[in-house]
Amino acid sequence: KKNGYPHYMLKEIHEQPEALRNTILPRLREGIPDFSEDEIPDELFSFCDKIAIVACGTAMYAGMVGKALIEPIIKIPVSVNIASEFRYENPLVDARTLVIVISQSGETIDTLAALHLSKERGAKVLSVVNVKGSTIARESDYVFYTHAGPEIAVASTKAYMVQLASLYLIGCRMSMVRGKFSQKDAGEFVSRLLDTIPAVQKILENKAKLKTAASILAKAKDAFFVGRGLDYAFSLEGSLKLKEISYIHAEAYAAGELKHGTIALIEENTPVIAVATQDHIYGKTISNIKEVKARGAFVILITKQHAEITDDICDMHFSVPVPHDRFTVFPVAVILQLLAYYTSDMKGLNVDKPRNLAKSVTVE
Ligand code: F6R
Repeated sequence: KKNGYPHYMLKEIHEQPEALRNTILPRLREGIPDFSEDEIPDELFSFCDKIAIVACGTAMYAGMVGKALIEPIIKIPVSVNIASEFRYENPLVDARTLVIVISQSGETIDTLAALHLSKERGAKVLSVVNVKGSTIARESDYVFYTHAGPEIAVASTKAYMVQLASLYLIGCRMSMVRGKFSQKDAGEFVSRLLDTIPAVQKILENKAKLKTAASILAKAKDAFFVGRGLDYAFSLEGSLKLKEISYIHAEAYAAGELKHGTIALIEENTPVIAVATQDHIYGKTISNIKEVKARGAFVILITKQHAEITDDICDMHFSVPVPHDRFTVFPVAVILQLLAYYTSDMKGLNVDKPRNLAKSVTVE
């Protein structure tokens, strides 16, 4: 069942190129996102004056990327909400709100309760769900299925990947409907999205150096993930992956926040995984990284290709073969997943079934 892989998690990490193709390709007509087969009408993208994304855990972190992608293009407020908070906080949701619920299992109880509350308040609910016919899928107004196939490992990998791809497709269609993207813009966006698939494949084919990085992480008690903008959104998920399967305390920070407290925790050899793939803030992130490096951190840096890297910046460097800032998350996610995977495996832990966790959280 594991297809020769030692763990489901590694198998599922390797299934990501296929999961991306299965999720993206059926939604393209002449190279443009088209959701007529999903029975999602364009009015769903035009009626709203705000968007609330609601989910838990990894799915919520996919939502963070979705917000950072979509909000600057469509220019209406997009909030990302932890379902277990949203349902008790009297959220600002009304008949002009599009609520996007994200869930792999489609059974997470807090996410379902947030969906019910949103519907009671007259919002329209679009869910991004992996499991066909699940409760969340059945109770939503509209469903956009991710086609990851069954995900067995408790730590989500391929489901996250296709939640992202779905948000990119939804963002693209919405941008067209709202007059922010021309047909040409949409076509270009989709071709960049498709170009991430071979980039993901390439990371999967070059894993040796990631094992070396993991051997360093495996000795650590704490680790920090830093980035700005989209890179911060990716870091949140990287940090969750590491903590849940390797039991290393990990935190993600917006890089500019470090000096407001967290930098006090940096000691000799504290691992800092820095993501710096966004051109417009690259220099700012690099100067934050130099500050932690000067205080003894062991810096693992992820950039796009052709970044100029010197010894005062990092101890290890990885690059992703994606030239366009908005699309780097796909290969970056694979790097962060593999780092977590190898770290857990090197520590001899139960990678697929970490302690205290369940695949589907149906209790409050
Ligand atoms: C972490 C993980 C969890 C889930 C969360 C939501 O790897 O898998 O954080 O993302 O429990 O689950 P779903 O997506 O099924 O609603």
